[in-house]
Amino acid sequence: MFFRGALWMLLLLLLCPSGAQGHRGATSPGQEDDEPTPWPNVQRLQEQLRTAGALSKRYWVLFSCTLWPDHCEDQDTPVPPLGWSLPLWGRRSLDMLAAWFCRFQDCCSGGDCRISNNFTGLESDLSVRLHGQHLASKLVLRAVKGYLEKPQVGKALALSFHGWSGTGKNFVARMLVDNLYRDGMRSDCVKMFISTFHFPHSKYVDVYKEELQRQMQETQRRCHQSTFIFDEAEKLHPELLELLEPYLEPRSPKVHGAEAPRAIFLFLSNLGGSVINEVVLGLLKAGLSREEITMQHLEMPLQAEIMESADSSFGSSHLLKEHLIDLFIPFLPLEYRHVRLCVRDAFLGQDLPYTEEALDEIAKMMTYVPEGERLFSSQGCKSISQRINLFLP
Ligand SMILES: *[C@@H]1O[C@H](CO)[C@@H](O)[C@H](O)[C@H]1NC(C)=O
Repeated sequence: MFFRGALWMLLLLLLCPSGAQGHRGATSPGQEDDEPTPWPNVQRLQEQLRTAGALSKRYWVLFSCTLWPDHCEDQDTPVPPLGWSLPLWGRRSLDMLAAWFCRFQDCCSGGDCRISNNFTGLESDLSVRLHGQHLASKLVLRAVKGYLEKPQVGKALALSFHGWSGTGKNFVARMLVDNLYRDGMRSDCVKMFISTFHFPHSKYVDVYKEELQRQMQETQRRCHQSTFIFDEAEKLHPELLELLEPYLEPRSPKVHGAEAPRAIFLFLSNLGGSVINEVVLGLLKAGLSREEITMQHLEMPLQAEIMESADSSFGSSHLLKEHLIDLFIPFLPLEYRHVRLCVRDAFLGQDLPYTEEALDEIAKMMTYVPEGERLFSSQGCKSISQRINLFLP
C-alpha cells in the first residue's frame, strides 16, 4: 500500500515538478546544479510515465534509500551504484520526491527536518521585534535554549507567560514556534489551544478531555519535540488542567536515554497582570529605569498573586502546587515609546511608507493608564495593524 502511495507521489511530481522545489533542509546529495527540468509537454510525459512504470521498483529502492539510508543495508535488492543509468529527469524527480516527502516525515539526514531549532533566529526576533520586554526576552531564550540543548531531559519544559493583553505573550509564543519548527504554527508538532475557542462550554468537558488527550498523545507519538500552547490558561477547566499533570511530571531520564521526547508547554494568561503593572509603576516612580527592573522585583508578588487568584483554577491547580511550572515570565506593561515602535513595525511589515507624525498620532490613539500618570497602554500593542489602515491615503 505504501509502495503504491509512493508511486502516486512520483507521478504527481512528474506532473508538477516545480511545486516540490524550494523547501529547505531537504536537498539530497548529488543534486546537479543545471537548469531545472522544464515543464514536460504531453508526449514527453507519456514517455516518462511509461519509463517510470518499468523502473518503478528500482525507484522505490532508491527512494527508500534516500529517505532511510539505514534500511538500505538490510534490503535484499542490491542498490544500484552511484553512476546508475537512469535518465536525468528521473534522478531529479527522485530528489524532488524525497524533498516533498520529507515535508511530512522526519527523514532528513541529521534529524527531524520538521524541527529547525534556530536559536540565532529566535534571539534576533526577541531582540528586534519584541518591544519593552527585556525580562521575558532573556528568560524565554535562556529557558528554551537550555532545555533543548540539554543532552538528557527528565521533564517537559513548562513556561507560564503573564501580563496584560497586548504585551506580547502570543507574539513571543509565535516567534518561538516559528524558529523551532520549519512550518511554524502549522507544524504537526505544535498544538495551540485557546480556552474560549476550543473548550468553551464546561458541560462538554468530558468531550474536551478526550479530544485533548488524543491530540497530546498523537502529537507526542509523531514528534520527539512537541510544543503545546494554552492561550487564556486562566480559563482552562480544572479537569483539563488535571489531565495535563502527567505530561508535565518528571520522569526518569533513563527510560528513553538521550532519545527521551521533549515537550514545551506554554501557558498564556493575564493572571497577575495587574500586580506586574503595580510593581513596575512603583519602581519607575521610585526612579528606576525600566531595564533596571529584575525578576527579584517581580517574582514573589507575581507568584503570590497567581496562587491567590480566586476566579481561576489555574492558580490553585496541581500544576502550580506541585511546582510543575518551571518559570513564571512577566510581560511588562508597554509605554508610549514601545507602542510607537509597534506602529512602525506594522508599517514596515506591510511595506508602507510612514512619517514620524503618523507614528505619534497612532500611538496617541491608545488609552494610557493609570488615570494620573498615563504611563501604560491599556491594550499594549494590540490591533495596531488595524489602526494604521485609518492613516492610509
Ligand atoms: C535562522 O534565522 C535567521 C534569522 O531569521 C536566518 O537568517 C537563518 O537563515 C536561519 N537559519 C537557519 C538554519 O534556518
